[in-house]
Amino acid sequence: MSERLVVTGSQWGDEGKGKITDWFACRADMVVRYQGGNNAGHTVVFDGHKYSLQSIPSGIFNPATVNVMANGMVVNPESVVAELERLHEQGINDYQLYISDRAAMVMPWHSALDGAYEAMKGGEKIGTTKKGIGPAYSDKYSRTGLRMGDLLEPEYFAERLRAALEQKNIELKSLGLPEFRFEEVYGRYMELAAILGPRICDTSELINSYLRMPDKKILFEGAQGMMLCIDHGTYPFVTSSTPSASSVPVGAGISPKWIDNVVGVAKAYCTRVGEGPFPTELQGELAHEIRERGHEYGTVTGRPRRIGWFDAVVARYTARLAGTDYWALMLFDVLSGLDKVCICTGYECDGKVMTTPPSTISRLSRCKPVLIEVEGWKEDITGARSWDDLPEAAKNYVRKIEEVTGVEVGIISVGPDRSQTIILSEKLKDF
Ligand code: IMP
Repeated sequence: MSERLVVTGSQWGDEGKGKITDWFACRADMVVRYQGGNNAGHTVVFDGHKYSLQSIPSGIFNPATVNVMANGMVVNPESVVAELERLHEQGINDYQLYISDRAAMVMPWHSALDGAYEAMKGGEKIGTTKKGIGPAYSDKYSRTGLRMGDLLEPEYFAERLRAALEQKNIELKSLGLPEFRFEEVYGRYMELAAILGPRICDTSELINSYLRMPDKKILFEGAQGMMLCIDHGTYPFVTSSTPSASSVPVGAGISPKWIDNVVGVAKAYCTRVGEGPFPTELQGELAHEIRERGHEYGTVTGRPRRIGWFDAVVARYTARLAGTDYWALMLFDVLSGLDKVCICTGYECDGKVMTTPPSTISRLSRCKPVLIEVEGWKEDITGARSWDDLPEAAKNYVRKIEEVTGVEVGIISVGPDRSQTIILSEKLKDF
């Protein structure tokens, strides 16, 4: 029986984590976000309604679930309040939400700087979400940032804000951007503090109190995907945090000993938004067809996603980094109707075959995929509710993925609704 589960994206983000985290979140006593911020875009569909979450954990729909935005996140209080208002308009009013007093705070200048840094890069843009995530994490690590707990001490917050503005306004001015006035920012952040203040606390203490109770089910909800990891991803075309399960202990303030199982969420194909090399990328009609069928447009930015075949080099690599126990294979229904489906098992680069990604994007952009072909299936599988409902060719594709990645497929998703989920692993059924 798994009580402490991590769900983490195993490609370049947008793998369908929202749906899987929602599946487990309904059963969890606590859901914890441990990295990233409102650059994430989780879509959750149930009872015919579609909800979009950015920084708020997926357990928000269940009044009995405790939701935690932990210290490893960068929290934009303005956007959290807006997100809560949107949920309120959709009738979601009864929830438990706590925000770490140690979480770095996204300030208004962070998004302005995010946009300006991108503009300065010219043709080498990262394609960020412009939510200020990189600048907020940079300030955290250069030890000049503000934290959510500062809001609880107005005088201390004022002091930190003045110091930050002194430095930031010089930078903003030099980039030709509007400066920020202390009174305006202070006034607005005190309003936000009045709304969010009661939710700000030492969330590590809260999470650990749940960990010590043996019957509590805790879900750690990763955002983005491991190929966007600041350390292990396709640097510099990455985000500024570590989505992997390995960042849970630091980002949530717990011991690594507590984690039982890791579910790696992966699409049955691959997508990527933003720039950067993408070895299995498809072009033309096939890419268009998959993009339209999978509704592959960014939840946060609306940008069309790039499409590629399932990349087992990436899958093996991310499984190694996260200790993935099971794949949740998402959007499987989108592949129905194709004559053949391909899986990339290696990269050909500079006359050699590589089985793990290179560290530089210069080398990665020279990599050509080594593809194996698997017979496709014509049947619509959106109504499949068990392994036996799947056509033989679809089963073969799943088995092939297990074979080339060395990781068991524990969950298959055949549509956006909660009901369109096939849980194969007995252990995961118990969560
Ligand atoms: P940032 O996180 O806004 O700094 O963006 C850095 C890179 O990560 C860009 O390529 C973004 O498109 C990508 N990214 C950030 N968040 C997500 C996400 O939730 N899903 C997919 N890509 C993301």
